[in-house]
Amino acid sequence: MEQLLRNFFLFLSKNRFFTRLAKRYGLRFGAGRFVAGETVPAAVETIKDLNQQDMSVTIDHLGEFIDSEAEAREAADGCIEAIKAIAEHELDSQLSLKLTSMGLDISDDLVLENMRRILDVAEEKNVFVTLDMEDHERCEKTLTIFKKLRSEYEHIGTVLQSYLYRTVDDIKELDQYNPNLRLVKGAYKESPKVAFPDKKDVDENLKKIIKIHLLNGNYTAVASHDDQIIEYTKQLVEEHQISKDQFEFQMLYGIRVDRQRELVEEGYKMRVYVPYGKDWYGYFMRRLAERPANVAFVLKGVFGK
Ligand code: FDA
Repeated sequence: MEQLLRNFFLFLSKNRFFTRLAKRYGLRFGAGRFVAGETVPAAVETIKDLNQQDMSVTIDHLGEFIDSEAEAREAADGCIEAIKAIAEHELDSQLSLKLTSMGLDISDDLVLENMRRILDVAEEKNVFVTLDMEDHERCEKTLTIFKKLRSEYEHIGTVLQSYLYRTVDDIKELDQYNPNLRLVKGAYKESPKVAFPDKKDVDENLKKIIKIHLLNGNYTAVASHDDQIIEYTKQLVEEHQISKDQFEFQMLYGIRVDRQRELVEEGYKMRVYVPYGKDWYGYFMRRLAERPANVAFVLKGVFGK
């Protein structure tokens, strides 16, 4: 039943009609639990609050499935607005974005043009930018663009997903760029032809890539709410005397908030991924797929209580 619900929400997450409808009607169905608001000022207030609790942030200007060049340029403008707000309010925040919102499905040149615009401002304002990783179909393209931009800019990183068979090779290949990588399990529905179908294998592969990347001396963001992964990382860094400056934990806004605070109290760096914007639908559906128990929040959102 749980697997059926997961697949159902992942199927819904890709629906362009609902994506557009959701943009028009605003945050609904309890999505506010996972999304900081629709505007930059709303996101700024959330970041201030988290910074006061000694948590760093990466702000995500939500966006995916762009159909026109104009929409992609508008999304890039939105990211630039967010970077300027981070600098203006002196916030401890990075920026995350999805390349599909920059026009990945339209043309690589458009993506590069948008990204260079963003990265120029980010460099000036000293804000780090992470390219989120999307579905397997777009993984190769995302990594190619990342490598190109990484050879031009310092303050850019990306994400690798442990559910993909290719990831161990990717992490070894990327080592020559000394990349700052966020390592995750992976949030999309993938075929067993390209991704481990068993959660156990996904978990083991995440441990494996965390170890490879940390021992290669690269900055590592361990992005997981899973205690098993967090404990593994703590033991690994202790065993190899890896400095707390070489890694951080990351979690999503609104998920395991108590655990986020505990890690800060234990002296670890914790970064919270804070999404905001009108394009909340796909992100919200993927969070429901990860934990169908969250559907209770949706029902409250629909029925008012
Ligand atoms: P797992 O799913 O095993 O969950 C462990 C425990 O965490 C659960 O038992 C539950 O207690 C809690 N939990 C997990 N998800 C929850 C939820 N939605 N609601 C409530 N509780 C929940 N993916 C991707 O493909 N590309 C990307 O760029 C990113 N970026 C990213 C950034 C950050 C900061 C994080 C934390 C995650 C991502 N992800 C991602 C998502 C990631 O791939 C993965 O889908 C989720 O983190 C869930 O996997 P966990 O490692 O948390 O473990």
